Amino acid sequence: MFSQESIIGVVGSGAMGSGIAQVSATNNYKTIVFDTNADSLIKAKKNLSASLAKLVEKQKISELKAETIFNNITFSNTIFDLKDCSLIIEAIIENLTVKQSVFKELENLVSKDCILASNTSSLSITSIGAACNLPERVLGIHFFNPATLMPLVEIIPGIATDKKLAEACQALISSWGKIPVMAKDTPGFIVNRVARPFYSEALRIYEEQIADIATIDWAMKEFGGFKMGPFELMDLIGHDVNYVVTETVWTQFYFDPRFKPSLSQKRLLEAKFLGKKTGKGFYDYSEGAEPLLPKKDEVLGRYIFNRIICMLINEACDTANLGIASVNDIDLAMTKGVNYPKGLLMWADEIGLSNVKNTLQDLYNLYEEDRYRTCPLIKKMVNEAKTFY
Ligand SMILES: NC(=O)c1ccc[n+]([C@@H]2O[C@H](COP(=O)([O-])OP(=O)(O)OC[C@H]3O[C@@H](n4cnc5c(N)ncnc54)[C@H](O)[C@@H]3O)[C@@H](O)[C@H]2O)c1
Repeated sequence: MFSQESIIGVVGSGAMGSGIAQVSATNNYKTIVFDTNADSLIKAKKNLSASLAKLVEKQKISELKAETIFNNITFSNTIFDLKDCSLIIEAIIENLTVKQSVFKELENLVSKDCILASNTSSLSITSIGAACNLPERVLGIHFFNPATLMPLVEIIPGIATDKKLAEACQALISSWGKIPVMAKDTPGFIVNRVARPFYSEALRIYEEQIADIATIDWAMKEFGGFKMGPFELMDLIGHDVNYVVTETVWTQFYFDPRFKPSLSQKRLLEAKFLGKKTGKGFYDYSEGAEPLLPKKDEVLGRYIFNRIICMLINEACDTANLGIASVNDIDLAMTKGVNYPKGLLMWADEIGLSNVKNTLQDLYNLYEEDRYRTCPLIKKMVNEAKTFY
């Protein structure tokens, strides 16, 4: 379906679009980046140049290779330039109506064999495809930020998508040195769904004054081996992004209490304390600010880690139970998309599914909230003494 002569189109030259274009060009594909905003195109070109120069400086690529990558990319503010593309990946603003109108426009100028993909994090692929005459050629190809560095790519066929086209895209992305995983078209796909309890359960523990933010962050790093704690990570991602993802996933799951957002995070967003980028979030990043020190209480730390990891495992099990992705792909998604130290289903086997079940049951008994319901797959596997691997 694709050959080295195929032309790849990218719509949107922001953070994601320019990263995706760099990946495609690095793999020797002629790539055309289209954006309606001329300034954004200029900035993307400048950033590409700087990024390639850095790679040369670090001796990751030769000067010749940098030049080839640069020359493989054309920046354009004319959508018509995308007409000969074999695959177009859209990475514009996260708005369904705008995306649908761009897809309609693209459909009218490309050949009927051109595949149209969206990099959306939270919109339904099926609803983007439904705006097109040929929804079978529309799918999700979801890169992670920064696209040049993060190996994971989620491939999401909508319900009308031709499976053969999704498999062809999976093969192409794999040939680009990325790790593609297949996911069903459901809110948050794999990563943005399964990762929710990392933040939400930490927020719950904090709001109930069981522990302060520094202690929760310490516990997840110390006992879980995570590179960053939940509050450090939310501050880094930015509450404008992280809170909105949570709220979108929650809304799309018909307000399932398992995904309920937190008021403490919403207040930070309202105050424009967006995290590291604004100098203040859960932590204060201003010069001379007193560092928050964790209470290194091992019993408390293990309680925090166990509670959060069991909630994460519950979500990963639910994702497997509903056939959203395979066991292997769920574990790959979390290790390659968000750098978890271990796949959650592998972790479940290590901790023991009956221990996970007991922790969740204790939480349910305490709160009597649907949020803490145990995934039926866990109960079934415990009864049958099964493991994931
Ligand atoms: N930033 C992330 O961490 C991340 C990660 C994965 C997926 N995504 C998704 O990728 C997409 C892009 O995100 P981003 O962070 O790169 O956004 P961004 O704001 O950095 O860039 C968006 C670009 O799209 C351009 N644009 C807007 N409307 C357009 C139109 N109609 N036609 C052509 N160009 C248009 C803008 O000028 C801008 O340059 C979104 O759907 C987002 O949900 C983002």
